[in-house]
Amino acid sequence: MTDPRDPRGLAADAPLLDGWLRFTARASAGELTPMSVPGHKQRRDLTGDVTAGDAPLYGGVDTIKHADELLADAEGRAARLWGADWCRFSVAGSTHGNQALALAAGEPGRPIVITRALHRSLLLGLVLAGLDPVWVLPGVDPATGLPGPVPVAAVRDALARHPDACAVFLGDPSYVGTTGDLAGHAAAAHQAGVPLLVDAAWAAHLGFHPGLPPHALAAGADAMVTSAHKVLPAYTQGALVLARTDTGRLGSAGRDRARLHPARLDPARLDRAFEATHTTSPAGAIMASIDAARALLARDGEDLCGRLLRVVAAARDRLRQVPGLDVLDGPGVEPAKLVVLLAGTGAHGIAVENDLIAAGMPVEMADRDTIIPIVTLADDDDTVARFTATLAGIIEAHRGPPRQPVPAASWTVIPEMAMPPREAFFRPNETRSAAAAVGRVSGELVAPYPPGVPVLAPGEVITAEALEALRAAQADGGRIAYAADPTLATFQVIARS
Ligand SMILES: Cc1ncc(COP(=O)(O)O)c(C=O)c1O
Repeated sequence: MTDPRDPRGLAADAPLLDGWLRFTARASAGELTPMSVPGHKQRRDLTGDVTAGDAPLYGGVDTIKHADELLADAEGRAARLWGADWCRFSVAGSTHGNQALALAAGEPGRPIVITRALHRSLLLGLVLAGLDPVWVLPGVDPATGLPGPVPVAAVRDALARHPDACAVFLGDPSYVGTTGDLAGHAAAAHQAGVPLLVDAAWAAHLGFHPGLPPHALAAGADAMVTSAHKVLPAYTQGALVLARTDTGRLGSAGRDRARLHPARLDPARLDRAFEATHTTSPAGAIMASIDAARALLARDGEDLCGRLLRVVAAARDRLRQVPGLDVLDGPGVEPAKLVVLLAGTGAHGIAVENDLIAAGMPVEMADRDTIIPIVTLADDDDTVARFTATLAGIIEAHRGPPRQPVPAASWTVIPEMAMPPREAFFRPNETRSAAAAVGRVSGELVAPYPPGVPVLAPGEVITAEALEALRAAQADGGRIAYAADPTLATFQVIARS
C-alpha cells in the first residue's frame, strides 16, 4: 500500500526516503523515546511544528549510527543516474559543494584557472584551499547587459600561461542561464592534464530531456556541483557533488599528470574534502529529499522536464507579447531558464519586484533591467500563466521611456589582484572611507546579492570603477552583501605594515 506521504511511491527506489518515512512514522506513533539528538525529541509542545519531519540521518533515517549503509546506497544510485563514479549528498548547498571541490583540487599556492563570474562560495573555497586564481572572464552581451560563457580560447590561453595549474573551475549554466562549450573546455583541460570542475548549481535537471543540454559530466567535466533544492523539488540546502574519477579518458598527457599529482580527483581525497566542512549531524529530511528528487528524476524526469520546457516556452511567448518586453532565448541559453529583459518597457526591475512580492510572487533575482523568476519541476501551466499575467500587469503600471540595459556590476568586474585571496583573508584590516580606499587592497568580499558574484574580493585592488559599479547597484535598489559597511561609505582594506 502506498504511503500517502509518498504519493508517487518513490520510496521503493529511494532508500533514504524509505528510512525517513519509517523513522517519522514511528516517531508520530509515539514508539520512540530517543536518548539521542536532536534535542526536540520529536515533541511538538516546546518549539511546536517548526521541527515537524525533522529526523537525524545518523541514528534516525539511516539504520545504524554512522554505518552510512542507506546513504551509500542512495549516493550510489545518484552516481549511476548522472554517470558518475563518486557522489555525495550535502545538506549545505552548492556553497559546501563548491568548497569541497576547491579543497579537492590542489594544494595551497597552486594556480587554478577559474571564472571571475564565480559565486562567492567558490571564492571562499579558494581561501580555504589556498589556491591562487588565474581568472578567466565571461563575455558580456551589450544588447542585454548579461554575461555569456567563458570562451574556450581564454581557458586554453590561461592553461598555457600556467602549466602548473591544478584544475579549471567554471560555472555553467551561468546565473542568467547562458551556457558555454563545456565539451571544448573539457578538451582544453584534459589536454593540459587537469580536471574540469563545474559549478552547475542551477542545473540539476540538465540531461534529463532531449530538449535540454547535457549535464556537465556528460559534456566531459570531471566533477560538478548542483543544488537539488533549486530546480528539483528537494528541501532547501540539499545539494549533490558528483565526480568521475577514472583517468582513462584523459589521454596520455592527462595520465602522466595524474601520476605526478595523484591527489587529483582521487575519490579518497574528494571524500576528505567533502567531509572537511560538512556537518557531522546531517538533517535526514534534507538527505531523504535529495534521494527522493533523484528517484523522481530517474522515473519521471523526462515527463517533468518536458512540462518545464513547455511552460517556460509558453511564458516566453506570452511575455514577448508585452510591448517592449523581451526574454533571453536562443542558442547558448538554457531553455528552462526564464530571464525577463525589462529595459524596453522602461519599468524598473526593483519596483516590479516589490509589486510581485506584494502579490505573493517573490522572484529569485531582480535588478533594474532584469527579472529572473525560477521555474522548476514543481511548476505547471497554471502557476506560470498566473505569474506571467501578473508580471505583465505590473509592468504596465511601471512603464517608462525605453532605455539601454546597463551590465550589472557583477558581470563587468576586471579584477586587479594584488595578492591571493587566502593571503588577503588573514591579513589585518583597517577601515577607510570609500574615497581613501580607492587604490588600496580590499580585505573583504563585497557582492550585490543576488547574484552573489563578488565585485570586490579579498586581495583585489579597490578601483574607482568597482566602487562606482557597487554604488550604482546600491542606488538601483540592490542589496550589497558581505561588506562590513553595506552603505559603502567605508571599506575594509589590508593594513599597511
Ligand atoms: C552559481 C551558484 N553557485 C552556488 C550557489 C550556492 O548554492 P546554495 O544556495 O545551494 O548553497 C549559488 C546560489 O545561488 C549560485 O548561484
